[in-house]
Amino acid sequence: MLEELLQKLQAITADAKSALSAASTPADVEAVKNRTLGRNGAITALSPMMGKLPAEDKKAAGMAFNEAKQGIQAALNEASARINEKKAEEAPAVDVTLPGRAWPFGRKHPISQTIDACCSIFRRMGFIAVSGPELETVWYNFDALNAPANHPSRDPQDTFYLPDGRLLRTQTSPVQIRTMLGSKPPVRIVSPGRCYRRDTPDATHGVHFHQLEGLYIDKDVSLADLRSTILKFAKEYFGTDVKVRMRPHFFPFTEPSVECDFSCVMCGGKGCRVCKNSGWLEIMGAGMVNPAVLRNVGYDPEEVQGFAFGFGLERLTMLKHRINDLRIFSDNDLRFLKQF
Ligand code: PHE
Repeated sequence: MLEELLQKLQAITADAKSALSAASTPADVEAVKNRTLGRNGAITALSPMMGKLPAEDKKAAGMAFNEAKQGIQAALNEASARINEKKAEEAPAVDVTLPGRAWPFGRKHPISQTIDACCSIFRRMGFIAVSGPELETVWYNFDALNAPANHPSRDPQDTFYLPDGRLLRTQTSPVQIRTMLGSKPPVRIVSPGRCYRRDTPDATHGVHFHQLEGLYIDKDVSLADLRSTILKFAKEYFGTDVKVRMRPHFFPFTEPSVECDFSCVMCGGKGCRVCKNSGWLEIMGAGMVNPAVLRNVGYDPEEVQGFAFGFGLERLTMLKHRINDLRIFSDNDLRFLKQF
C-alpha cells in the first residue's frame, strides 16, 4: 500500500516536471498546476489513500506528500520565472534617456481672466458676483430699465429677437432688475456676462461681447460714492497713477448719467494713437439709478438710492494686454491663447 502510494507520487512529480520543462506560456504552467496541485488534481486525489494506511506508514507517506508538493511547486516557480524572463527579453527596450511626454495644460481665456480680476477687485469692496440669463424678455432688457418705447436700441436692426419675442440681452443691465426684484436693499452686486448686438464685426465691435455690470443700492448713496468706487477699481486694475473723469451723458436707467474716462494707460495721459491724442479713454457708462427704475422693482426712491455702472470687458482686456483687434478673442487660435 505505501509502496504503491510512493510510486504514484513519484510518477506524478516526474510527469509534472517534464511537462513544465516544455512549457512556453503562463497558460501551460497554469494547466500543470491545476492537474497536479489543483482541487481536482492528481496529488489531491491521492490524499484519501493516507487514511487507509497502517499507522506506522503514515509518517513516511506524509513526508512523501510534502516532498512531491514542494517539488512540483518549485518546478512551477522555475517555469514561470523562465517564461517571464523570456518575455522581458523580447519586449522592446525602454530608452530611459528619452525626454518625458509633455502634458498639455489648458488655461483660462483672457476674457475669463479679466472677469476673475474685476470680480476679485469688486469683491474686496463688498460687491458679490451674480449672473443672469443671456436670453431675456423685452421687459427686463428695456421696459423695466426705463427705455422709451421708441428707443432705437430696441430696433431689430440692433437687437437679436427670437420668433417668440424674447431677445438676446444687449447689456448686462437686466441683471440689475432681476437682483432688485429678488432682494431687499441694501444691494451690492457685480454681474459679468455675454451680451449681443447686431453690429457689423470689426476690430472694436463684435456681435457678442462681454460686459460687467455693477449696482449698489442703500440709504444715502451718492455720486461721490460712485466716483470713489470707480477710481479705486481703476487703480487696482491698471495701476496707482490712473485718473478718472466723468462727463455728462444719457442712459434711460440712470439720472444723472455719466461716461467715465480713465487717463490713457498707454501714454499716461500725454496723448497717443490709442487715446487719439486726448489723453483719455472712454471706459464705462454709469450714473445714479433712475427713481423710475427703483419704482419698477418696488423700491421706494425716497428711502433708498444708488449707483450703477457697466463696461466692456473686451476693451479692458485689450488695453491691459495691448491687443488691437477683438476678433482674436473668438478665433480660438492656440498661439494667441497660450500667451495668457
Ligand atoms: N448698459 C449700459 C450700456 O450697455 C452701460 C451702463 C450700465 C450705463 C449701468 C449706466 C449704468 O452701454
